[in-house]
Amino acid sequence: MTTNKKSSSNVNVETIERHQYDVVIVGAGGAGLRAAIAAADGQAKVAVISKSLLGKAHTVMAEGGVAASLGNVDADDSWDTHFYDTMKSGHFINNYEVVELYTKEVADRVLELESWGAVFDRTPVGKIMQRPFGAHSFRRLAHIGDRTGKELIRTLQYQVIHHSVDVFQEVTTTRLLLDKEGRTAGVFGYYREDGRFVIFQAKSVVLATGGFGKAYKVTSNSWESTGDGAAMAFQAGAELMDMEMVQFHPTGMVWPPGVRGLLVTEGVRGEGGLLYNSQHERFMLRYDPVLHELSSRDVVARSIYKENLAGRGTPHGGAWLDISHLPAAVVKSKLPGMYEQFLSLADVDITKEAFEVAPTTHYAMGGIRVEAATGATNIPGLFAAGEVACGLHGANRLGGNSLGDILVFGRRAGMAARAYADDHDQGDLMSGQMEDEAQRVLAPFSRTQGERPYQLMAELQEIMTNYAGMVRSRDTLETGLEQLKTLQERSTRMVISGSRAYNPGWHTIFDVQSMLVLGEAVIRGALAREESRGAHWRTDFPEELPEMGAWNFVHTFQEGTVVVRADPVPAMPDRLARLFESNQSPGILRKQQRAARRGGDS
Ligand code: FUM
Repeated sequence: MTTNKKSSSNVNVETIERHQYDVVIVGAGGAGLRAAIAAADGQAKVAVISKSLLGKAHTVMAEGGVAASLGNVDADDSWDTHFYDTMKSGHFINNYEVVELYTKEVADRVLELESWGAVFDRTPVGKIMQRPFGAHSFRRLAHIGDRTGKELIRTLQYQVIHHSVDVFQEVTTTRLLLDKEGRTAGVFGYYREDGRFVIFQAKSVVLATGGFGKAYKVTSNSWESTGDGAAMAFQAGAELMDMEMVQFHPTGMVWPPGVRGLLVTEGVRGEGGLLYNSQHERFMLRYDPVLHELSSRDVVARSIYKENLAGRGTPHGGAWLDISHLPAAVVKSKLPGMYEQFLSLADVDITKEAFEVAPTTHYAMGGIRVEAATGATNIPGLFAAGEVACGLHGANRLGGNSLGDILVFGRRAGMAARAYADDHDQGDLMSGQMEDEAQRVLAPFSRTQGERPYQLMAELQEIMTNYAGMVRSRDTLETGLEQLKTLQERSTRMVISGSRAYNPGWHTIFDVQSMLVLGEAVIRGALAREESRGAHWRTDFPEELPEMGAWNFVHTFQEGTVVVRADPVPAMPDRLARLFESNQSPGILRKQQRAARRGGDS
């Protein structure tokens, strides 16, 4: 089975392992697994392809909870309040249709998870417990301690293995295959274990491959998050949107260096954690006098950055986060993961002392442009869900809306992909694609000298961090673009030695290639958006400009380059626009009105 010989680029495609499915789902995080359950709810033959092992998905890093207006803790919560909060935090460039579907359906998806055995924390009367999170009007995050993503994956995985779904683990997909009419026909990939090629023919494909946080030096993302699906779809003709919107979570670990960027859940602030600068000042009281530490992520991340600029940062360039005022037993029961993480990795007991945190690259708000209800892309038969898609979050994602996103839109994409497969025959593969791809994938073995993939990866991360990170300007972005273009050119000469078996350098080549394309989209989008909005902070355009809020930037891939155009943000119908007439969310308004009436009565 294993090919330990030096590989040749002459591949007879007839000998490649081939599978035929109705629906193939690429990605085994929450979106992929939820899509698989939906797709397999009938007669469809379904496969899930995972880049890593089943259960080891980046979804586990969404720790603090899933946002749903269940109203278990705050009865005034409602879908329209959640809608208001999500649009407002997204600075109104979100797709309102996506947000409406999400906020109306996510509570059912959470209850469904509960019925499938997810062990949520409980209120005293036995309902699913909900905690506060930044910029949510109410306590809204249904959670399992600080391990919500992990429990979600466990629960979905259990469902998947009880549906008729084939799972292929440790497979890298490198190309979307099209049929002769330009419709989706499957994917091409290889087993990471031994480098064997594999072709999955399918009537429809769902991409659920997550984000590309690994394009940055400091990130909460795990090794899988290299943008493979988005890059693959983009190069096959799909459109990307909002790529300039990269979320920097305010609280990642800072010290020791080996764990820099690792997520410190917003649940710490949700449970009452306070942020201090080096002068022991609670600086968030200044930056957001209303929401304080529970301001939106873009605001908190920028505030930490500004405190450091002003010389009030912590020894390793962050802020102090302190939860030690709570009883140790509460910290250990509500935040067991954080307690263990800091104790084992940093030798810090968070029940006794404050700990250092700093912003970390966390989430891509931009991604593949999809239809709201189905996750359909502009390539027939290709669907996308979760972080790889876009529309829900706009310019800034609310914490907890990613776990909800993967449940609501994973299910919708899975159902739509199944319906598409029911209505279509498998198309004939466009000729030459597999031969070309096999040669392209093996080409780095045939070079005797050239560019080293790890070196290019390090340079890419340096460029994205220095020039297209949390703080941007025309100057930094143009420098970044120029350097990225040079890197793209060098990347055509990447070289690798050894065999196809267990060769991480070889895998890195495809990660670098994907992120170079997506990095260009980020930078070109950031150049086009001449304003500051949400996570996108331009020091040369420090204000949010109403005229810019009318546009989403859409990217197409044309002759090897990324082309940007501005498309109008879909206008909200009156029934939804009315929710924003007051500067207060509907639920809070109702609460205030009730209190006023009670005051009047008395
Ligand atoms: O902070 C967190 O627990 C992350 C949650 C999220 O990104 O939704």
